[in-house]
This record gives sequence, structure tokens and C-alpha cells, in this order.
Amino acid sequence: MTGGAGFIGSGLVRGLLAKGASRVAVVDSLLTGYERNLDEVRGSVDFHKVDIRDYDTVRKAMEGIDVVFHEAAIPSVPRSINEPLPSHDVNINGTFNVLRAAKDAGVRRVIYAASSSAYGDTLILPKVETMLAAPKSPYAAQKLMGEYYMSVWASCFGLETVSLRYFNVFGPRQDPGSQYSGVLSLFISAILDRKTPTIFGDGGTSRDFTYVEDVVGLNIKAAEAPSSVSGKVFNGGNGGRITLNEAWNLLQKFEGVSIPANYGPERPGDVRDSQADTTAAVRELGHAPQVSFEDGLRKTLEWYRSARQA
Ligand code: UD1
Repeated sequence: MTGGAGFIGSGLVRGLLAKGASRVAVVDSLLTGYERNLDEVRGSVDFHKVDIRDYDTVRKAMEGIDVVFHEAAIPSVPRSINEPLPSHDVNINGTFNVLRAAKDAGVRRVIYAASSSAYGDTLILPKVETMLAAPKSPYAAQKLMGEYYMSVWASCFGLETVSLRYFNVFGPRQDPGSQYSGVLSLFISAILDRKTPTIFGDGGTSRDFTYVEDVVGLNIKAAEAPSSVSGKVFNGGNGGRITLNEAWNLLQKFEGVSIPANYGPERPGDVRDSQADTTAAVRELGHAPQVSFEDGLRKTLEWYRSARQA
């Protein structure tokens, strides 16, 4: 797995071990991930601190591997606008390198962490895989390019690939430590500190927040699916749509406090509304989301609370 020390990757490592994998090989540069994310599973992980742009080392780490989960990336829409070069290099050139190394090492299948941002603003919700992609930011364009490379590696080089367009994944171990962190990790930190969050825009911006365990389950199904799914793109979402105002209100309700948010200007590159059509993932991969937004948010809040006490 690439990016196995990151938020989603480390959840997926746990999911694979729980499903019976004896060991998981992890490649991670620790640029945005942390070795501590793998703490209790460290004994079952072969950890390689390496950048995905380093072909030789990545290829070596892939020897004897059947399925690669490619989770490594420099995420964040605003980060890709403020500093387009590093995210371009890792997300596009790094992905190219992972595919090349996987093919050369004899890997059977690569599952790719694609992004719902590829859709941009669509006229119709929910967003279906057959809609034309219309990226609004470098990050969205980079992630879309990765999907195209996946499909081309399937058609030209006989490597099986599956792209999963993640929809705003949240849950335990998401890092709230940067201005580029996922909004729910920032909201949860704010509510636990009894601090005022900033909402960019009028708060009516909506997202299909997806609990990390559901994305883990989807990846495992994508690894097990028949070869007929190769080269395809699937939504990895919950299927719901929650506004930023609703999310902040719910957290205030859970904690029994009232802290009005600050409102700031909308962020450049932001998509207004996001919601996944999950039909194709259910039909072809056999995965239906299991965790409601409210349950996922409650679990995540409790995880952050106990992580602070540890
Ligand atoms: C986008 C992708 C998502 C991808 C992620 C990776 C879409 C729809 N989603 O997430 O699939 O995994 O990039 O980085 O493109 N916000 C605030 N206050 C804050 C921080 C953020 O109001 O303090 C707002 C943002 O302006 C945005 C929303 O919250 O409207 C969500 O932001 P964020 O969590 O950063 O994710 P996306 O950019 O939506």
C-alpha cells in the first residue's frame, strides 16, 4: 500500500489485517502521514519510508505483492492552488511511477484513491460516474489524471486497475493540524476546545461526508471483485448530503454548547455541492455504505476526545 501511514491508508491497513491479511507492506514518505498511525499494528506491517516518485525502491517494495492500494497523495484543494508544483509532482508523476513499478513488479491489481473533486460543479445531484468530469482545481485535475492513467494501464499494459472516487472521508486519525485539514477534523477540534470555527461561504456548501470504515470496506470489495471491473471508476461515497452549517450544529448539539461560527469568504476552487450516487459501487463491487453521518460523527468525536486524554 502507498500512503499507508496516512489517515485513510492506516485505516485500510487495519481493515486488511482484520480481514485476515498476515502482513501489509506500506510505502510512505511521512510527508503528511505519521508512523504513530500504525502504532498497534506495527508488528504486522513492513514499513518502507520512501517517496512514491522513487521508482527503484517502490518497485522493490512491490515484489511479490498481488494487490496495491495507492493511497499516497498530497491532498487539499487550497493547498494545490497555493503550491501547485508539489501536488502535481506527487499526484501525477508519483501515480505514474506507482503504475510503472506495479506493472514491472508483476502486481495483479492497483486500487486507486481517486477524488469526488473530479466532478466539479454538476447541474444534477447525486453525481454519477457517467457524468463528464469538470475539475475546478489543480488537485481535482491531478486526481482525474490519475484515473485516466489507471484505465490506460489496464487497457495498454494488462494491469488490473480500479479507481474509487472518495467523497470527503472523515473519521479517527484524520489530522486536524493544518489549515488544509479536512473540515470535520477542524470542526471537532474547535468544539472540543470550545473555540469558534470558520465556515468558508454561507454554510450552505454541502458534502457527502463518508466514514472511513466505509471507504475501507469499499477498497476490500474492489480488491476482491472479478476482473470485469478492471479499468473502471466508482464513487466511494455515503450517498447523503450535509451542509457545513448542519455539521457544526450537530456537533454543538452533541456537546450541549452554543458557539456561533465565524463566516469567511468562499474558498477558490471549492465545489458547492457534493453527493455520490452509490448504485454502481453497490451493483458491481457489492459495497453499500454502512455508517450514517451522525453515527460516524459521534464515533469520530469520541475518538478525538479519548486521543487527547491518552
Ligand atoms: C476535496 C474533495 C474530497 C477530497 C479532498 C482532499 C470535493 C467535493 N471533495 O474536499 O473528495 O478527499 O478534497 O483534500 O471536492 N471549510 C470550512 N472551514 C474550514 C475548512 C474547510 O468552511 O476550516 C470548507 C471548505 O471551504 C469546503 C468544505 O469545508 O467548502 C470542505 O472542505 P475540505 O474538508 O477541505 O474538503 P474538500 O475541499 O471539500
